[in-house]
Amino acid sequence: MPRRYNKKLQIKLSDLRKLFCRRDLVEEILSGGKDPVIYEVYQISQPPSEGVFSAATTVLYPGKIGDEYYFTKGHFHLKEPRGEVYIGLAGRGLLLLQDRNRKIDKLSLNKGEVAFIPPNYAHRAVNIGDEKMVFLSIYPSDAGHDYEIIEREGFSKIVVGRKGKVALVDNPK
Ligand code: 6PG
Ligand code: NI
Repeated sequence: MPRRYNKKLQIKLSDLRKLFCRRDLVEEILSGGKDPVIYEVYQISQPPSEGVFSAATTVLYPGKIGDEYYFTKGHFHLKEPRGEVYIGLAGRGLLLLQDRNRKIDKLSLNKGEVAFIPPNYAHRAVNIGDEKMVFLSIYPSDAGHDYEIIEREGFSKIVVGRKGKVALVDNPK
């Protein structure tokens, strides 16, 4: 994995309990004493300053809660006019983009693919494969993260695997 980073985050199922659709299943797993790691983020953070980049490598493990694939929390950037680039390094994934009106777009983010996140779009990576999905993100160091809206409202679509097929379906919440 990354050789140089100055901050490592580990996100477990309990950190995502409000975000998965099947909260009942999440609570069942947690009450059974398990709290699997869903993803890890290795940040190369720079002090916030205009024109300076930060970067992070995210390792998103494969798995599902019910039929919903593991994902990253997802966020808007705090500073609205701040875009970002994601580069797929391993595995098979999707990138969900959602604008302020909750209109959703999806881009594929497989190994070797590059995806641009326009300013003012919430973004979430989803691992739709059987292996680790790894991607590099490069973003302005003063972008910041706003998790609140997604934590409250979720994305308008969720990514599920049903009968061997990957599908985007309306978020039942
Ligand atoms: C960022 C990037 C990216 C992201 C991680 C984890 O703005 O820093 O989008 O590094 O933070 O992939 O995803 P969450 O921040 O949504 O948990
Ligand atoms: Ni971001």
